[in-house]
Amino acid sequence: MLQSSRLLLRALEPGDLNDTYLSWLNNPAVNRYLETRFLPQSLEALQAYWQDHRDNSSSPWFAICLASEGRHIGNIKLGPIQWLHRRADLSLFIGERGCWGQGYASEAIALVRDWAFGELDLQKLNAGIYAGNLGSRRAFEKCGFELEGTLRQEVVSAGQRLDVWRLGLTRSRWSLSP
Ligand SMILES: CC(C)(COP(=O)(O)OP(=O)(O)OC[C@H]1O[C@@H](n2cnc3c(N)ncnc32)[C@H](O)[C@@H]1OP(=O)(O)O)[C@@H](O)C(=O)NCCC(=O)NCCS
Repeated sequence: MLQSSRLLLRALEPGDLNDTYLSWLNNPAVNRYLETRFLPQSLEALQAYWQDHRDNSSSPWFAICLASEGRHIGNIKLGPIQWLHRRADLSLFIGERGCWGQGYASEAIALVRDWAFGELDLQKLNAGIYAGNLGSRRAFEKCGFELEGTLRQEVVSAGQRLDVWRLGLTRSRWSLSP
């Protein structure tokens, strides 16, 4: 479990796999930049995914909850961790639209970043972001990630090919930050 002043990150529980979570994944505003939009979503599919991933130590997966009331507002995943390279991808979504623009994504990224470098001793974190997803890019940049490259026409989105920004942060740069 990871905690900041406003957020609690904890393991996903069976009770989280509910209609609210399903509505996030089926909301075009939320899933527009998520790979999950290609999968048929149902409560059964959520449960099957949870069963497959719950004990996977190579992809720690957290529910992002408001510390004050415990409400689940999104998820964040570190992984897959490449232990031989001590490197992992970081990805997230804030499903509750009413919670966008309040700094929760940046706060969740910072929590997992500090845990990954400080506790897991990873040496590099990466994020892949569809070009145009300015909110996500900004949230990662606020946490010290920098653009390392652009993969040209890497994905299909709404019938168009889009670039993907690759952002990264090394442990050494993180450890220098104030
Ligand atoms: C992208 C997402 C994670 C951002 O979450 P959030 O909690 O609203 O982000 P934050 O509040 O931490 O905002 C981070 C920064 O981005 C800015 N920002 C947020 N949304 C933005 C947008 N649509 N356009 C431009 N800037 C935006 C914020 O103003 C803030 O910058 P500031 O502090 O300099 O003002 C959230 O909108 C989301 O989950 N979207 C759907 C799924 C998704 O895209 N996930 C990421 C896949 S890589």
